[in-house]
This record gives sequence, structure tokens and C-alpha cells, in this order.
Amino acid sequence: MSQSNQRAYNFNAGPSALPVEVLEKAQQELVNFHGTGMSIMEMSHRSSTFEEVHNEAISRLRKLFDIPDDYEVLFLQGGASLQFTMIPMNFLQLGKKANYVMTGVWSEKAYKEATLFGEPVQTASTKENKYRNIPSLEEIDFGSDDAYVHLTSNNTIYGTQWSEFPDTGEVPLIADMSSDIMSKPIDISRFDLIYAGAQKNLGPSGVTVVIARRDFLAKANKEIPTILKYSTHVESNSLYNTPPTFGIYMLGEVLKWIEKQGGLAAIAKQNEEKAKLIYDVIDNSNGFYTGHASKESRSLMNITFRVADEELEKQFLTEAKDAGFVGLNGHRSVGGCRASTYNSVPLETCKALQDFMIAFQNKHK
Ligand SMILES: Cc1ncc(COP(=O)(O)O)c(C=O)c1O
Repeated sequence: MSQSNQRAYNFNAGPSALPVEVLEKAQQELVNFHGTGMSIMEMSHRSSTFEEVHNEAISRLRKLFDIPDDYEVLFLQGGASLQFTMIPMNFLQLGKKANYVMTGVWSEKAYKEATLFGEPVQTASTKENKYRNIPSLEEIDFGSDDAYVHLTSNNTIYGTQWSEFPDTGEVPLIADMSSDIMSKPIDISRFDLIYAGAQKNLGPSGVTVVIARRDFLAKANKEIPTILKYSTHVESNSLYNTPPTFGIYMLGEVLKWIEKQGGLAAIAKQNEEKAKLIYDVIDNSNGFYTGHASKESRSLMNITFRVADEELEKQFLTEAKDAGFVGLNGHRSVGGCRASTYNSVPLETCKALQDFMIAFQNKHK
């Protein structure tokens, strides 16, 4: 019997909600995976059974995300945070510049790691505006000889998201898509490297997806540790060392679920619909709720808002918790409230939050 009626209204920012169908399938297959007499976690990552799961996940990701043939798809470990290090280690040569578009704490962390390698420079920072907006494309500064431009496509903490991406010409463009990967179709060919921890839109934590143009990867520095070279993972089909086998299996199952939803165009539509439910409450509340992000930069993944005054905000969070809502506290660095409405968060969950927010306002205005 489905346990979907026992599920929390989960708005966690990551790790976050997974489709209940996927969890139930994993539960069914857990003890005896496809008649092997063991779980997927108990078998060799070199076994044909696991390899099939692994390769299927890669090919499904390629198909659903419309990844061109001249790109590699890698499953790595160490989270997006290790990518903050691997990117400059591989691609930032001494004497070269790399440009970091500063739209939040995750951009700051990515930039900080790059300072250990070459000459990263910050560009188009929106920090003075409390990271409420995405900069205009004209503000992004870079030179034709620079190593790359790096941006964070969705800013999980502030609730802002890029709606269009800069054209950097010959200069490679790199994006941290941790919190909006596969939330909508995008033109992959605009990017040289995309990376994302799986734990928001694609599965459990432990797997990091990297999608990179083959000729960009060929430019990487050679004199770095083996495990930190992208080429090591390309050459071994992401099986250089023991991969997070259960995470890759789950990611594959989430991709099957995305396929069943109708692919990324359908997912994008659902995401728009879900976010609108909550933004509408904010916009129609006569200032009872205020959004953190500027309207034109609003994220469809993380909806950040404040309640009229601090006492009321505490009460909002307490009452929401009592009503079964999880994960609505804003990130510890900014406070306030945040509803993360990633791919797997059901429309009904967002509708429940909409109803709760309206009822709370009616009670307290
Ligand atoms: C945009 C973004 N980048 C990077 C990270 C860090 O990811 P990880 O914990 O996988 O290293 C996060 C985590 O929330 C994030 O939201």
C-alpha cells in the first residue's frame, strides 16, 4: 500500500523531497535487487548488474537533458563543494584570470577556492543589494584571454535564479547548477562545464553530476592529483574508484520519474505552477509577506520571504511546523522563511502551503 498519505509537507533546501514512487520502488527492490539475492548496495561496482544501472543513468540523463554528443557526463563525489576546488585546479593556469559572477554565498565559496590557484576576479556582484537580484548581462566583465567565467545559476539561500545566460563567446562558461539542474530545459551548448550535487533535484546526496565539453576538458592542467583530474573520471566512465552506488541507482530512478512526468518541459511547467501558488500569496498580501528577491530575479526553486514582523515570523514558523510543514526556516545566514519547491515537491504540498499562508494572514492581520 502506498505510504504517500503519511508524507510530510517537505520544503527542505537539500537534501530534499524525493518522489514517493521512487522511494517505494527502492524499498521494494532493496533486499533483493532484480533477483540477485542482494541489494544494489551489496554488490560490486564492477558487476554487470551495477554497470547496467550506472550506464542507464548516464544515458537517460543525456537524453532528458538533451546533452550534445561532444560532452562528457560524470558522476563524481565530494559535492558541489569539491567542484569549487577541482575547477580552478584543472582550468585556472598561473597568470590567467577567471571571472566569478557574485550572486551569493555559494559564488563566494567558489571564488575563495579559486584564489588558491590563479587570479580569480569578482564581477557583477550584487552583494550590496543583499544578493536580491541577478546582475544584468552587460555588467559581467571578462577578457577574451581569460580562463573562464563562473556563475551560480540558482542562488539557494537568497532565492534568485538566472533566466537568461551570458554569451561569453570564446571564453568558457561554467555554471554551478546545484539547485536548479534539470528543473527546465536549457541549451547545454552555451556552457563548457555544468556541475550540481544531486541532493536537490536529482536524488540523494553523495553523487555530483558534471557535464563538460570534451575539448574544454582537454585543456586541463596535467600536474594535479589523479583523483582530482576530470580526465581520470572520463577515462574510467566515472568508475575510477568505488562510486556511491546507491546514490547513482536512486538518481537513475529519479530520472525515470522525470521521464514519466513528460520530461523537462513538463517539469518546468509544474515548477512554474508550484512557485506561482506561493509568490501569488506574497504579492497579494498587502505587505504581510515580503519576498527577498527582486521580482525579475525570482527563483522557481527557492522562495524566500519575510513575515510582517519578527515575532509574527517566529509564530509563523512555529505554527507551520505544528501543521506538518518541514524546512521553512530561511538559511541560517539570512533568516526569514524559505520554501524550496524542487522538482519532486508535489503541487499539493505547495497548495497546502498556499492555504496555510492565507489562513495565517487572515488570523493575524
Ligand atoms: C548553489 C549551491 N552550490 C553549492 C552547494 C554546496 O553543495 P554540496 O553540499 O553538494 O557541496 C549548495 C548547497 O546547498 C548550493 O545550493
